[in-house]
Amino acid sequence: MRTVIINGANGYVASNFINSLLKKQFKVIALVRANKQDPKERMNKVLAYINDEKEINTSNLEVYNYSLLDNNFSMNENVLKSIFTGNVDYFHFAASLKYDEKSVDEIFSTNIEGLENSIKVFLKYAMKGSRFFYIGTAYSCGRFNGLFEEKFYGNKDISEFRNYYEQSKRFAENIVGENIRNNGLNGHIIRLSQVVGNKETGVTKTDYGIFDFAKRVYNLANRYPNEIVRVHVDPDATQNLIPIDTVTGHLTRVVEEKEIPGIMHFVSKNPVRNSFIIDTLNQLAPIQIIPLKTLERKDMNPIERLISVGMSFTESYASTDILFDTRQRDKFLKNTETGPDYKSIAKMMGYFIETLSEKRKKKEHEAALKDGWL
Ligand SMILES: NC(=O)c1ccc[n+]([C@@H]2O[C@H](COP(=O)([O-])OP(=O)(O)OC[C@H]3O[C@@H](n4cnc5c(N)ncnc54)[C@H](OP(=O)(O)O)[C@@H]3O)[C@@H](O)[C@H]2O)c1
Repeated sequence: MRTVIINGANGYVASNFINSLLKKQFKVIALVRANKQDPKERMNKVLAYINDEKEINTSNLEVYNYSLLDNNFSMNENVLKSIFTGNVDYFHFAASLKYDEKSVDEIFSTNIEGLENSIKVFLKYAMKGSRFFYIGTAYSCGRFNGLFEEKFYGNKDISEFRNYYEQSKRFAENIVGENIRNNGLNGHIIRLSQVVGNKETGVTKTDYGIFDFAKRVYNLANRYPNEIVRVHVDPDATQNLIPIDTVTGHLTRVVEEKEIPGIMHFVSKNPVRNSFIIDTLNQLAPIQIIPLKTLERKDMNPIERLISVGMSFTESYASTDILFDTRQRDKFLKNTETGPDYKSIAKMMGYFIETLSEKRKKKEHEAALKDGWL
């Protein structure tokens, strides 16, 4: 069994992957930045959160503090030599998921310089048979029409992308490509679509993408109950959603197998229509959201404008219907799951809204106690 080294280890996808690897007795090295807290504590906290505060066996887990952009990650050379002993599988997860123009420096330094430095450390310390996996996004396709294939695409101007995040992830892939060609990097790219909750249990511990939208709708419903609110979302367009347990299952197969394709799309074969997501939300929260393919800001009422401002990221994905090629992935995984069905998505939405509602009740209760009402 290879040791698996993972950076950005306390993030949503990486921590769930680590959780699965530990259950399968893999030895895992987690690289976590301190961010004003002890990295080990950060990692343990997130593992406890994933497991509903139940204890798990972490005897195969080692956690190290690192600094993504610094020489040798600001880690001791002997420590680096020791963690890279033998052939390892190294997963680069660390990324800034911001997208806006004012965060462009942070996005580019984390997602591009961070990756360059990660490859530099890997090439310096990893043994010949070690493998480097870059976690990319299927949305690095940008404003692409047609079938997005499991191959490299060139760097493009920002106008070809929906945001700087997508562009930075495309640039990063091409850095992996250059290092494969010029520096002998044993590199692979895994592009994920939007990662959601667990398809069996419905447990959803992310507020990214459609769940960010769900949170905004829930908050709005509590502030303005029973309103009818139009949103600029194409009801017939789709979201490509992939459950977290499917992602961790696929990634675990990657570390178990010898031959891995250069680029794979871990995406769903059954994208979910926006109208279904909105209908589900309408049943879960006291609000009536009406998705419209065309709705200009000047025609919105103040409440609609409020939700539209908060949706600046989600809105750019509200009219997408992208076709992702999965031939490499299908050949690799053989019996490929086709992503969450509508029932799973409804279960995830239910779980997510219920969790928000419990948090809200707790906050209200605490406030009432503080004010002496209870
Ligand atoms: N979630 C999705 O739907 C999705 C879809 C497609 C692709 N992906 C890709 O999957 C990967 C993980 O995404 P995620 O959703 O799990 O994100 P996440 O929860 O935000 O995790 C990101 C991780 O990167 C770390 N990080 C950010 N900036 C850093 C820096 N300057 N130095 C060191 N570490 C840094 C974060 O550390 P801190 O906690 O300290 O900030 C965190 O551990 C990313 O590469 C993302 O592009 C995700």
